[in-house]
Amino acid sequence: MAHSSPDPAHPGRAGPQHVAIIMDGNGRWATNRGLPRLVGHRRGAERVRAIVAAAPGLGIRWLTLYAFSTENWKRSTEEVIGLMRLFARYIEREADRLSANGVRVRFIGDRARLDPRLQALMAGIEARTAANAVLNLTIAVNYGGRDEVTRAARALAVAALRGEIAPEAITEATVAGVLDTAGLPDPDLVIRTSGETRVSNFLPWQAAYAEYEFSPVLWPDFLPAHLAEIMARFGLRERRFGAVAAG
Ligand code: FPP
Repeated sequence: MAHSSPDPAHPGRAGPQHVAIIMDGNGRWATNRGLPRLVGHRRGAERVRAIVAAAPGLGIRWLTLYAFSTENWKRSTEEVIGLMRLFARYIEREADRLSANGVRVRFIGDRARLDPRLQALMAGIEARTAANAVLNLTIAVNYGGRDEVTRAARALAVAALRGEIAPEAITEATVAGVLDTAGLPDPDLVIRTSGETRVSNFLPWQAAYAEYEFSPVLWPDFLPAHLAEIMARFGLRERRFGAVAAG
């Protein structure tokens, strides 16, 4: 599983099939204009629409977006509530278009702390789009890599205590299978916008072999053309997964 191979839909092209994006810079975009931070997030949601629409044409089969981290609860109540409303509105407004365009939507992260209404919207769109396969869109909400690995460790400990699995039988594949991302390929490319060069607890297990690209562009200004340019550059890189280069 996991590693990119040439896309059968685009013979000869071996670009990244799974792109994961840390959408950073909404707050600065708004502050630079003297606007409330939530205006930046709203504009950021418009960028999500544009990037999702452009992704299949760029050969992307899996797109994972970091929308809200386990650390983001520390923001003001107004901003947290505003973001949660934005996620709910995105699901409500985009559901028809996503379904019609063959997008399969999934969410990763710990949902237990989210508003039950948002949880229901998330489960609803996941079920509605489950048979789609043009683009696999995964949105990380209340996601933290350490939290995900901790929950996975807990699940395996419970299974071991119940006698369902022997500790010595636990392999990397077993662990991968109890992460939120079970069944998804690992990301080939992780992009962070806004010039920050941190990983911020995003997919630490899954991105172990990923390439990282850092764009200076703030997320509300990030266009499909920026993504296309990064992908073109990525296509020139050689990926060896620890082996010696061929030829
Ligand atoms: C980071 O910018 C962005 C977020 C914490 C929220 C991301 C949310 C969206 C792009 C909006 C909608 C998303 C979906 C999936 C509909 P920041 O606020 O940390 O920016 P700053 O570093 O400039 O303050």
